[in-house]
Amino acid sequence: MTFVPTDGKRKRVFIRTYGCQMNVYDSDRMADVLRPLGYALSDSPEQADLVVLNTCHIREKASEKVYSELGRLRDVKAERRREGSDLTIAVAGCVAQAEGEEIAKRQPAVDIVVGPQAYHRLPQLLAEAERRGAIRRAGKRLPGAGVLDTEFPPESKFDHLPAPGGVRAGSAFLSIQEGCDKFCTFCVVPYTRGAEYSRPAESILQEARALVAAGAVELTLLGQNVNAYHGEAPSGSAGGSTWSLGRLVRALAEIDGLARIRYTTSHPRDMDDDLIAAHGEVVQLMPYLHLPVQSGSDRILEAMNRGHGRDLFRRLVDRLRERRPDLALSSDFIVGFPGESDADFDATMQLIDDVGFAAAFSFKYSRRPGTPGAALPDQIPESVKTARLAALQALLARQQRDFNAAKVGATVPVLFAEPGRKPGQVLGKSPWLQSVYVEGPASLIGSIASVRLTEAHAVSLAGEIVPPLEAAA
Ligand code: 5AD
Ligand code: SF4
Repeated sequence: MTFVPTDGKRKRVFIRTYGCQMNVYDSDRMADVLRPLGYALSDSPEQADLVVLNTCHIREKASEKVYSELGRLRDVKAERRREGSDLTIAVAGCVAQAEGEEIAKRQPAVDIVVGPQAYHRLPQLLAEAERRGAIRRAGKRLPGAGVLDTEFPPESKFDHLPAPGGVRAGSAFLSIQEGCDKFCTFCVVPYTRGAEYSRPAESILQEARALVAAGAVELTLLGQNVNAYHGEAPSGSAGGSTWSLGRLVRALAEIDGLARIRYTTSHPRDMDDDLIAAHGEVVQLMPYLHLPVQSGSDRILEAMNRGHGRDLFRRLVDRLRERRPDLALSSDFIVGFPGESDADFDATMQLIDDVGFAAAFSFKYSRRPGTPGAALPDQIPESVKTARLAALQALLARQQRDFNAAKVGATVPVLFAEPGRKPGQVLGKSPWLQSVYVEGPASLIGSIASVRLTEAHAVSLAGEIVPPLEAAA
């Protein structure tokens, strides 16, 4: 689609994304919102008229990165103004939501602060920022402190976003659910992303069809609590007024040309029977599940307000593997939650040993202001957290290596995503989300080919296309 910028000028936007896949999705959608205003994507802040930092607030380190980046952008902006032009700086995402006022105070160079539920209003916010710029240039006093939009608006942003833009290398994210009502005691998400919301199934199916028509062969359904999904059923569909995730997955699997379906991030409490059954029945649903457990100690799980114990998690894994024996699991772990004893930590190590994970994300507990965990007594010393994280990551790395090694010799479908590190290589993903590289042409990118896995490394596998490309031609 060609666009006609309202003022006839082509502008550039640089979007930097921090954090989770929801943010990656939101960044793409912000680009979609900005495109009709004349903004093309830029690779660097130096060449941009507008910079958007799409931020993450989940751990302290993630938020601090934002402030140091803003310091650098302030200098770029000052330089621009000396040259008689300008740079507009917008902070989006969860730091914007949580610390909007503070950002404006700490870094006055910021023009726009917009929360994750309000970015469909970027055009209005930019117009407002432009108006403020004109007032400033005229040497008059600016009213208030910048342009701030961190309300949770009564309307859903999904009803106000344009059709999604391009699909990268055959794969696309599709946000189906947002927010969270679970209130784990360590987590800021219920405060930054707001209450649980599920998009109506029909609008998801429409977006999915558009993405497949634009070249997607894989869709990853996103949500902070994606398997809590309970969206309005399409009108006329049998079986109740809402659809669960299992029902939605089955409907998506009917889209011609869609070869792979994934979803993330799920909660153990929301794995219902139908979704578990879908893992055994829907061939497009990939045999890989990210199911965060956080800890293997019942005492800590209780203090985290996770709403389940170790045994429920173990039973879930057993039931899933009964349906889909080759299912690979990944998870999230937090070490050093307040009150975590050596015995609690050992229970986590034991759970990891018992279950076996193909991949994992693990973190030291980070004390987040405003969450109940931050006020708990018995915060764990940094040195203890460091030692526990190292032990846990060593175990998980061993499991990942073993998982990869066990696949050597198998022939598997790989969806190619990008050029490999060395010239002549292409890199893709196996059904179990392993990185696989082969010798092959860049034309493979965006398509699925059969690969025989020949060699396993710590976090990737080498393979060769079968049958050889010449023979296939
Ligand atoms: N400290 C450390 N890790 C956290 N996570 C969420 N909040 C915190 C915190 N305060 C981790 C959890 C979650 C993942 C997205 O980030 O493991 O599943
Ligand atoms: Fe955060 Fe817990 Fe909700 Fe996940 S389930 S987003 S960890 S509050």
